[in-house]
Amino acid sequence: MRMNMLQPKCTHSCQWSSCQCGLCCTKITNFGVSRGGTQILKDVNLHIHCGDLTAIIGPNGAGKSTLLKAILGEIPHTGELQFLDANNEGTSKLSMGYVPQKLDLDSSSPTSVLDLFAAAHTRLPIWFSYPKKTRERVRETLARTKAEHLIDKRLGALSGGELQRVLLALALDPIPHLLLLDEPVSGIDQRGLELFYQTVSILRKNYDLSIILVSHDLNLVAEYADRIAFINNKTLECSGTPQEVFSNEKVIQTFGLDWSKRYLRDEKDRVDNAIMV
Ligand SMILES: Nc1ncnc2c1ncn2[C@@H]1O[C@H](COP(=O)(O)OP(=O)(O)OP(=O)(O)O)[C@@H](O)[C@H]1O
Ligand SMILES: [Mg+2]
Repeated sequence: MRMNMLQPKCTHSCQWSSCQCGLCCTKITNFGVSRGGTQILKDVNLHIHCGDLTAIIGPNGAGKSTLLKAILGEIPHTGELQFLDANNEGTSKLSMGYVPQKLDLDSSSPTSVLDLFAAAHTRLPIWFSYPKKTRERVRETLARTKAEHLIDKRLGALSGGELQRVLLALALDPIPHLLLLDEPVSGIDQRGLELFYQTVSILRKNYDLSIILVSHDLNLVAEYADRIAFINNKTLECSGTPQEVFSNEKVIQTFGLDWSKRYLRDEKDRVDNAIMV
């Protein structure tokens, strides 16, 4: 596991001596997924490390969302999916947070951000007023993604960037071992995109999170990801550091550019430039 440059605050309940969060590695071996009789993914081999932001890139229809759904257990897969602790032993005490690629919201619904969080954590119907402590807890959770001011807004009235911050906060409540983000930033302007990547980058340091982020934004991926996995032709064609992946012939061919010259900022710069959350 990497050592964090910032002080990590492990919020998971497990107590491994050398691991901050109890999940050291998500190991995907000979992984395959078929849907409707068609093979979508095959022979995928990938290790995702604790404290790393791993970006999944690849063309439309390559199978990126499918991979995330299979990791979540939403769809069946072949091959092995293991969650390993610091002793390299399998752990089943694993929690995952997820922000989906698409969310169909009824813009006229009266449901507020507070209602959404309260529904996820209490059994009270939403027409009950919430105890003060519920409100306080939701506000604290929203503050992780700088969204606390949105607590009383209707979900349908949120902008794309605001909604994405709220959903990210929801995925972090409680802090998961593994956070899966499926292009959660589509339709957001450049400044919003950068803020999102900075936020995610700092969250993974502060909470020692494993993050898998599907993205089409190669510049931001190059800047913020620790590792990149390139999915193409139904499989994982290459993985490694941004430098390694963006120097790969297949990646260059697929995206038509030599991205390898575009991400020379080192880790220190990234941390110095990031916004604290
Ligand atoms: N339920 C399904 N039944 C059959 N085929 C499916 C199903 N869901 C997805 N697919 C197919 O699997 C392939 C991969 O889809 P997936 O959504 O994983 O791609 P993606 O890499 O996330 O693409 P994008 O970048 O556009 O989001 C596509 O060809 C898609 O049509
Ligand atoms: Mg997708």
